[in-house]
Parts: sequence; structure tokens; C-alpha cells
Amino acid sequence: AKKPITITITGAGGQIGYALLFRIASGAMLGPDTQVRLNLLEIPQGLRGAEGAALELHDSAFPLLSHVEVYDDPTAAFRGTNLALLVGARPRTAGMERGDLLAANAGIFGPQGEAINAGAADDVRVVVVGNPANTNALIAAAHAPDVPADRFTALTRLDHNRALAQLAPTVGTPVSDIRDLTIWGNHSATQFPDVAHATAGGQSVAALLAYRLGGPDAAREWLVDHFIPRVAKRGAEIIEVRGSSSVASAASATIDHVHDWVLGTSNGWTSAAVVSDGSYGVPEGLVSSFPVESVDGAWRIVQGLELDAFARHRIDVSVAELQDERDAVRALGLV
Ligand code: NAI
Repeated sequence: AKKPITITITGAGGQIGYALLFRIASGAMLGPDTQVRLNLLEIPQGLRGAEGAALELHDSAFPLLSHVEVYDDPTAAFRGTNLALLVGARPRTAGMERGDLLAANAGIFGPQGEAINAGAADDVRVVVVGNPANTNALIAAAHAPDVPADRFTALTRLDHNRALAQLAPTVGTPVSDIRDLTIWGNHSATQFPDVAHATAGGQSVAALLAYRLGGPDAAREWLVDHFIPRVAKRGAEIIEVRGSSSVASAASATIDHVHDWVLGTSNGWTSAAVVSDGSYGVPEGLVSSFPVESVDGAWRIVQGLELDAFARHRIDVSVAELQDERDAVRALGLV
């Protein structure tokens, strides 16, 4: 039998952890032939939650689950890891300035980057879920100089899935018929969900929207006034309705991100925040969301897409925010 894949999940005692662990162990993430070993990393306050989840994982008798271990030491938790899902983060609390938030998270993602650098497997892949996800990924990557930069990613697949879900009923197709939608930029309210290259059942989404909504102007109005803000602010809408932030959908998007990264994209491209190589004018080194395909287990930024003035502007706004975040962590001496 193949050696199990070692997966380290931080914040494993939290809400997303609880929604994520059982789907990983069921095989939803890496397929029905891959055994998994789960390393659950928590801080002391979260250890009982992680230990409880570990008991329930045992009780589920998953055939693919080879081992579960709970840690409070990052060095031990990341030793030999093939896949690091960095979910635990310091949330923004009342009165906290952005600089405080970035600094508090640098205190988490810096040492975790170092632990990954020191002990992870050569093929390690990293997904940052904990917010501010893009800049936390940048910090982790900066502390792991021996790990190739393209192994560090941040999750924007939830935004991508939200965009698909908003689009499908309006276009009148199942989500599975829609392809080549893009989330650009930061996982924040400045993100740009872009349908310019998207198709549904082989037809241009822009044309289908114009047909269904009564013309190109109406389609554009729907995109700008309804679709883009609804997707970008969906997190706040979920909090408003549920009284708690998105959890199961965030876990599901994490499963999708890793699944496609490891096993390959099919049916067009998807969206992920990856370290920029300068594509589309996004400054090199920023962790920004792009249209990506996974080829041979590596994300490739889809090249050669035409951007109109509107798209260019929206991308520039979100990238400027990422640059501000990088400048802030640099000014604090954190990267
Ligand atoms: P939660 O508060 O339920 O769980 C977070 C867990 O992380 C807690 O158990 C906490 O003890 C643990 N933790 C904190 N610092 C840690 C450290 N240094 N090492 C290990 N564990 C640590 O929060 P929830 O709902 O699970 O969300 C987790 C993060 O995911 C938040 O930052 C949230 O904003 C983010 N998120 C990101 C999304 C995305 O699309 N990128 C979507 C939804 C949430």
C-alpha cells in the first residue's frame, strides 16, 4: 500500500476544522485510494476541541484514516507534512486596527512558515484559510525560504464557488455547466469576480445574461450592482443570517482547492490566490487570486486573457489593497 499523506490542519479545534476533518478523512479531498494521517495543531485554548474531534474521527471508522495526532507545538505538527491547511488565525476584535491584526497574525504565520521550512516534506503544499488569508500566506512564504514560492496559496475558492452559485440561476444553467469564471485580487470586499471569459454550456455568459435580462446594459447593471457586491459581501450576509461566519462552505471550498491542485482541474480553470510572477501587472511576490489551472500538481496562472478598462480598474483596486497590506507588514518588520 502507498504511504499515507500527512496533512497538518491548524485551528483544528475550531469551527472550520470540525467541518473539514471529516470530509478529508472520508476521501472527498484526495480521492478514494489515498490514506491520510491527520496532524491537528491547536493553541492551548483549542486543544480540547481538537482532542474531541480526534475522538469522533476514530468513532467514524473511516477506512482511509490511518492516524490522528493532536499537537500544540508547530515544529512537531509540521514535521514530514505533505499538506498544510492553515485555518487557525487571530480574528479581528473590537477596536483592533489593521496593523494590530496583521501583526497578531504575523505572530502565528511567521513561526508556522518557519516550522514548515524546517520540517515539512519536500513536496509540501500550503493553503492559507485564516484571514487575512492572502497576506498571511505572504508572511508564511517569507518565513520559508527553502520552500518554492509556488507551494504557498490562499483560499479564494469560496468566492469562486459563491460566484458560480449566484450566476447559475440567472443564466439558467446548472453550476456544472459554467466554466472559466475568475476571482481576481484579495479575499476581501475589493475582490473582483469576473465573468468576461465565462461560458455556460458553451455559450458566452455575457451574451446569456444579456438575453435573459433584456439587453447588454441590463446585464452590465446586474453584474455591477448585484452580482459583484453580492459575491464580495457574501461573508457578511452569512454572518447576518446565521449569526456566525461561513464554516461548512469554507471547508467545502478548501476541499475543492486541494482536490483540484493535487488531482488536476477539469472543465476549465478555477480561482486560487497564488504568489504572483508579475502576470497581469500584479506585482511579483504578492499573493493574489488569479485564474489558475493545475497541471502536473502545480498551479499555472492562465495567460493571455484580455482585460477591458473596467476589469483593469477593479483588479488594480484589489491589488492596491494587497500592496498596502504588504507595505504594512514590511513597515512592522514582519517580512
Ligand atoms: P474558529 O475561531 O472557530 O477556529 C479557529 C481556531 O484556530 C480556534 O480553535 C483557535 O484556537 C485556533 N488557533 C488560533 N491560533 C492558532 C495557532 N497559532 N495555531 C493553531 N491554532 C490556532 O474560526 P473558524 O470559523 O474555524 O475560522 C477560521 C479562520 O478562517 C478565520 O480566520 C476566518 O476568518 C477564516 N475564514 C476564511 C475564509 C476564506 O474563504 N478564506 C472563509 C471563512 C473563514
